[in-house]
Amino acid sequence: MSESFCPRRVLVTGGAGFIGSHVADRYLAEGCEVTVLDDLSNGKRDRVPEAAEFVQLELNSHEVDSVFERGGFDLVNHHAAQMDVRVSVADPALDARTNVLGLLNVLECARRHETRRVVYISSGGVVYGEPTVIPTPENHPLRPLSPYGVTKLIGEQYLHYYARVHGMDYAALRYSNVYGPRQEPHGEAGVIAIFAARILEGESITIFGDGKQERDYVHVADVVEANWRASTRSLPAPDTIVARAWNIGTGRGTSVGKLADVLMAGAGCEVERVFEAARAGELARSVLDTAKAEQELEWRPAVPLEDGLEQTMRYIERRINSQRAADSP
Ligand SMILES: NC(=O)c1ccc[n+]([C@@H]2O[C@H](COP(=O)([O-])OP(=O)(O)OC[C@H]3O[C@@H](n4cnc5c(N)ncnc54)[C@H](O)[C@@H]3O)[C@@H](O)[C@H]2O)c1
Repeated sequence: MSESFCPRRVLVTGGAGFIGSHVADRYLAEGCEVTVLDDLSNGKRDRVPEAAEFVQLELNSHEVDSVFERGGFDLVNHHAAQMDVRVSVADPALDARTNVLGLLNVLECARRHETRRVVYISSGGVVYGEPTVIPTPENHPLRPLSPYGVTKLIGEQYLHYYARVHGMDYAALRYSNVYGPRQEPHGEAGVIAIFAARILEGESITIFGDGKQERDYVHVADVVEANWRASTRSLPAPDTIVARAWNIGTGRGTSVGKLADVLMAGAGCEVERVFEAARAGELARSVLDTAKAEQELEWRPAVPLEDGLEQTMRYIERRINSQRAADSP
């Protein structure tokens, strides 16, 4: 499929976050005018690219409409979300307020102001539940096991409705575990940042369960490329939600134990591994089949895990060193 749509004015929600800030950089590099909307609940102001306009707003704010009116966006890239599975279990209503009601506010603004395309970020780690097929394709049954998984899936269903009834164009990207520079060391998705920081500080790392649980780690640069393709390609008819969903991962599973091995080898040091009980509800394996993105978006992951880990390690090392320099009298 060829390049078909050339976005010029882009709104990136969650553009002060880990992934959204890299995506905003890419739209700017492609010559787009970029507005970042983020409430900084988890984002950082200094991650927002200087050339982007920044609006600090919560997704549900009435003022979002005037941002659309001023911006005249032809594309919205929606990365803002409550993305912590454990928070969603503890407070499903809070999760739904951001991931469902916040999304709906954005989509209603997009409909009123005739935004042509929405790139929506879903999660291949949660929408399938415990997968029965590995690597998992997009047409696997959708049976999320957490409120976060439910709200990510509902987002895809709302977009399908907007496409069918209002003619809004969209793409839903189902990420696996994304890693790379600017990632904060928290949450399950942050395991690489957490391990890297602790190994570089010479501190022990905690492994939940036996360390054999597998995840599909995709580098943020590959994710950025997938966003650009989803923003610019002509897309198949939105007949079903699967038609407009693409897994973005590597098709390759890496155990947590193996991840620790590679990071320690990269740092040239060994730290103690502390084993704790497996966390309730944690999936044994989550690896995505990316054949659909390869065929329809002509996208495939390009960053080998070892190179990506090395680069992430050096980034975290620089961050630790600059923090130390700032802390020293
Ligand atoms: N990191 C991963 O491995 C991964 C995997 C699958 C899907 N995702 C999805 O990718 C997206 C970005 O994830 P990330 O890792 O960059 O997380 P992040 O927390 O770094 O970025 C999310 C951003 O959204 C902002 N935000 C949150 N709630 C908001 C609200 N109500 N109003 C306005 N802004 C709000 C936060 O301040 C933050 O800057 C999320 O939608 C997440 O569900 C991430």
